Amino acid sequence: MGKTIIVTGGAGFIGANFVYLELREHPEDRIVCVDKLTYAGNLETLAEALQNPQFRFVKADICDREAMFALFREEQPDMVVNFAAESHVDRSIEDPGIFLQTNIIGTQVLMDASREVGVERYHQVSTDEVYGDLPLDRPDLFFTEETPLKTSSPYSSSKAGADLLVNAYHRTYGLPTTISRCSNNYGPYQFPEKLIPLMIANALEDKPLPVYGEGKNVRDWLYVEDHCKAIDLILRQGKVGEVYNIGGHNEMHNIDIVRLICQALGKSEDLIVHVTDRKGHDMRYAIDPAKMQRELGWQPETLFRDGIQKTIQWYLTHQDWWQRILSGDYQRYYEEMYAKRIAEGTK
Ligand code: NAD
Ligand code: TYD
Repeated sequence: MGKTIIVTGGAGFIGANFVYLELREHPEDRIVCVDKLTYAGNLETLAEALQNPQFRFVKADICDREAMFALFREEQPDMVVNFAAESHVDRSIEDPGIFLQTNIIGTQVLMDASREVGVERYHQVSTDEVYGDLPLDRPDLFFTEETPLKTSSPYSSSKAGADLLVNAYHRTYGLPTTISRCSNNYGPYQFPEKLIPLMIANALEDKPLPVYGEGKNVRDWLYVEDHCKAIDLILRQGKVGEVYNIGGHNEMHNIDIVRLICQALGKSEDLIVHVTDRKGHDMRYAIDPAKMQRELGWQPETLFRDGIQKTIQWYLTHQDWWQRILSGDYQRYYEEMYAKRIAEGTK
């Protein structure tokens, strides 16, 4: 029999890609997406999913206990995958409060509701940023699942806080949890405030490309679909109580990514401007994904050189999608869509 899976944050970048993967790969399962539709949530991204009878969208805040308990009682989910989070480091430096609220308290509420209905799995989508950073001059060092948590930003601290709470709920209450910690993702539907989509959108409009500091910082990039496939595997075959690191050994300096984007779009590198560095800027992230490969047979399928071309192509052919974000129009989609449905429902 098909399962009911609650997916939080499914109107965001990775959550939406995960929703589409699940609907495609597991058509017997029902996906219930919970999303508050913050500035980072875009219901237009889920337009196709909304046509699928196996998909339900619920606009709600994961911190809202009453709403979450009511939904969990109604849906009796078999599994929960928590993508919902405030996710942008720069915003966390400006205003940490909402990060603690959503990323930590929201996780607690979801786990309390999961305990009450007795889910078979609660999966927490975490990040490699909980391990802090690595020095540039030690390319032999990687984050393993045993690397101590040592965070730098309010964002990563809030994610680490949530991870500790997940482990506590497993040990104290026996909640069947798993945690995945992935490196930087790129691909379709990423909000144009993150490095790759921001640079593509700015380059296409001949706007300056703001590189923090010298651009020597290293990130370990993974195509979003590979991340989603890894989560799907953990959900169905992973061991309860475990942490899994996800990454594809694809380290790049920020400046090289920006240059590559300029080249691919036929734009001059004169658009690049070096701006004031991010406070507390992590130098290098690098994941050791050996456990995922050894225990679950997972391998990244998309090479960076192919994935980045696909991504650039996607932003070129979906200019409406990101233009509506830049203009703010995307935030009206929910009202338009649901005002129409409510009117139809009351006819
Ligand atoms: P995103 O910012 O694109 O999407 C977040 C989604 O969560 C949005 O749809 C937003 O509306 C929703 N949301 C925010 N607060 C909410 C709340 N209180 N209640 C309900 N919904 C809420 O983020 P993303 O890049 O897709 O990241 C998803 C998850 O993956 C996050 O937990 C993030 O920490 C983690 N992660 C991201 C990356 C990356 O490179 N983007 C890498 C590793 C891990
Ligand atoms: P980002 O996409 O915000 O992801 P994270 O900080 O979670 O790794 O940034 C990726 C890298 O790119 C990071 O080192 C900061 C840098 N960066 C810039 O140089 N300029 C920008 O405008 C942005 C958004 C990021």
